[in-house]
Amino acid sequence: MQVWAVANQKGGVGKTTTAITLAGLLAEVGYRVLLVDLDPHGSMTSYFRYDPDELEHSVYDLFEQTRVDAERVHQLVLSTSHDSIQLIPAATALATLERKAVAQEGMGLQVAKALRHLQADYDYVLLDSPPVLGVLMVNALAACQHLVVPVQTEFLALKGLERMVRTIQMINRARKHKLPFTIVPTFYDRRTQASVNSLRELHKHYPEHLSNAVVPVDTKFRNASLKGVVPSSLDAGSRGVHAYARLLRSLLEQR
Ligand SMILES: Nc1ncnc2c1ncn2[C@@H]1O[C@H](COP(=O)(O)OP(=O)(O)OP(=O)(O)O)[C@@H](O)[C@H]1O
Ligand SMILES: [Mg+2]
Repeated sequence: MQVWAVANQKGGVGKTTTAITLAGLLAEVGYRVLLVDLDPHGSMTSYFRYDPDELEHSVYDLFEQTRVDAERVHQLVLSTSHDSIQLIPAATALATLERKAVAQEGMGLQVAKALRHLQADYDYVLLDSPPVLGVLMVNALAACQHLVVPVQTEFLALKGLERMVRTIQMINRARKHKLPFTIVPTFYDRRTQASVNSLRELHKHYPEHLSNAVVPVDTKFRNASLKGVVPSSLDAGSRGVHAYARLLRSLLEQR
């Protein structure tokens, strides 16, 4: 089982879309995929038509006690619109976690511990992280073997990324192996100077981490979310899906 996290401390850069689109493409080639929504806003949970205010069980359950047992973990898994993709949903209650986690030691590995119970059930797990450096993002970074960092190609894109790179360096001090990461430019529009310039800056500053896939602005992503299906089920030929397919190929090659 491979675990990938999608994170960036900046909001609205395409994290949730990246996780869901990659999940769809992995499922299409026959892999069993688990999505985990670690964002208190629950965008991924809502995408698949579950209400993060109403769910009886969610990823929050993992933080109620330090011990994580197998039965509890299996209870969290929900089905989605795609047969090969399942979801551990978020709950709004996750927002209260930061305060509690400070008081409780050792909450940084709750997700990693839970995933150990699911080793045999999935080929790939994708963790969607909130745009905040806190206990949830720390859990995602501690549980994954690879990190995908979507970066919106706009003015000041690099500023947010610098913060994320510092976070990765901090996490690396606590990890046995350095966390490999791939930067994915998103919302690219070659007609705008801001997109062209920021992509050039990314090439200059992070050549070894930059993905060769550049995700364009594509309204198909929003259409897919309105229908609650993965983008590749709605339109496998769209430019956006093509870009993510390219990203996926390079991620699979890096393994
Ligand atoms: N390449 C794209 N082209 C056009 N729209 C996109 C693209 N990627 C994402 N979107 C849309 O932009 C919005 C924000 O994307 P998304 O929710 O994936 O970002 P996020 O980084 O997860 O945001 P947050 O920080 O709030 O969790 C969504 O409505 C999504 O459908
Ligand atoms: Mg999101």
